Amino acid sequence: MTVIGADAIERAAKAGEALRVAAGDLVTPLARERARDLGVEIVIDAAPSRDEANDRRAAPPADRRPTRTLRPARAAPRATVLGPPVPFVGPPSGALYRRGAPVTAAGPAKPGRVVVVGAGHVGMIAAMRLADADLFDEIVLVDIDEGRAAGIALDLTHTAALSGFATRIRGVGSVEAAGPADYVVVTAGRPRRPGMSRADLISTNAAIVGDVAARVAATSPQSVMVIVTNPLDEMTQHAWQVSGFPSSRVVGMAGVLDTARFQALAALGSGVRADRITAWALGSHGEEMVIPLSQAGADGHPLDRLGLPETIDRARGSGAEVVGLLKTGSAFLAPGMSAARMVLAMARDTGEVLPAAVLADGSYGIRDVYVGLPARLGRRGVAGIVELPLRPDELTALREAADRIRERLAGLARAS
Ligand code: NAI
Ligand code: 2OP
Repeated sequence: MTVIGADAIERAAKAGEALRVAAGDLVTPLARERARDLGVEIVIDAAPSRDEANDRRAAPPADRRPTRTLRPARAAPRATVLGPPVPFVGPPSGALYRRGAPVTAAGPAKPGRVVVVGAGHVGMIAAMRLADADLFDEIVLVDIDEGRAAGIALDLTHTAALSGFATRIRGVGSVEAAGPADYVVVTAGRPRRPGMSRADLISTNAAIVGDVAARVAATSPQSVMVIVTNPLDEMTQHAWQVSGFPSSRVVGMAGVLDTARFQALAALGSGVRADRITAWALGSHGEEMVIPLSQAGADGHPLDRLGLPETIDRARGSGAEVVGLLKTGSAFLAPGMSAARMVLAMARDTGEVLPAAVLADGSYGIRDVYVGLPARLGRRGVAGIVELPLRPDELTALREAADRIRERLAGLARAS
């Protein structure tokens, strides 16, 4: 019997192949979940007869053996124009936990450091999710309130045995004290209060994000920055400009969250599981969010259109809906998990395509502004923008979103 772990699934995903296992092999729960996330088909070779077992030379070639499918491959979205098939975008997944992973004494050293700037609500959840993945050597929380960063880091360290990770966690008061990082998640800034729009935060948060981006550029010049602070699209472009990084290494998180919200709400309305729903939340993280119905589906079939416009409106307003209920602060569970999902996609180098705020390169007729588009993520950041065949009205809405972001950026430039 062989134990099949998540590594084997990730290798198969990279090779674009199904994973063949022998009858009797043990596929860990984590591996099954990774397979589901990455759309890798696990194929169990039928148990060999005694004669076959005695004489392996009698076995037919692998591709002609009778097979039994353990879990069907997930259908890719219907629309890909550039590059290989677009992997399914599901909500943040429990697969990041190491359930069922074999126990080792200390474990091998893990590569890499992730710095999370802002140990507030979103930063805390992102750090927890990244620690649970047990992928990195170290996660460092940075906050101007150093005690908070250190306290969250210690509290999270106490979960190591519960979640099963060996990642070290520190909490410090400055980007410099954190040390050089591979990935930097920026959540530092003010959240919304009831009645505020994300755009109301622009000048306060631009000062914070600009300062953080400059420090990251000096401390971690080779890092990839994932911006979370609002207003997201404008803050991502601002961080890119201040840092002087290539645009491939500055990316914003909003589309993963907005897509997950749409998936969850569409699931509530349709009875289909959220992780079977395919969708793309593009455009801005705000009023000009675009969720193209031409690209929405469930298990490869178009979604029942009834009620979908209302679902899109509710997804667009979900951030405000949570703010209104919480009364202080804004959503943090789904946002923190979404930021971690992007970092994990990059660190695992799976080539996933996720909706992200990226510098438009002429695709969709948009150029030179950060806007939510489908982006292929790799270890070093954004590896490319993927063009979906949108309907003309969807394309127009996407271009309008880019225009509004440009206008707000111009306003920020005038104010500073
Ligand atoms: P929070 O108030 O809980 O945490 C923010 C933290 O940043 C605080 O602990 C504060 O001390 C720290 N901070 C402020 N200035 C700093 C600096 N210069 N260096 C280091 N740390 C600093 O807020 P929360 O809920 O964590 O939200 C953080 C940001 O993320 C907000 O701007 C919020 O609007 C945004 N957000 C964005 C989402 C998205 O989809 N892009 C979703 C949810 C929140
Ligand atoms: C959200 O969408 C406030 O941007 C934040 O929850």
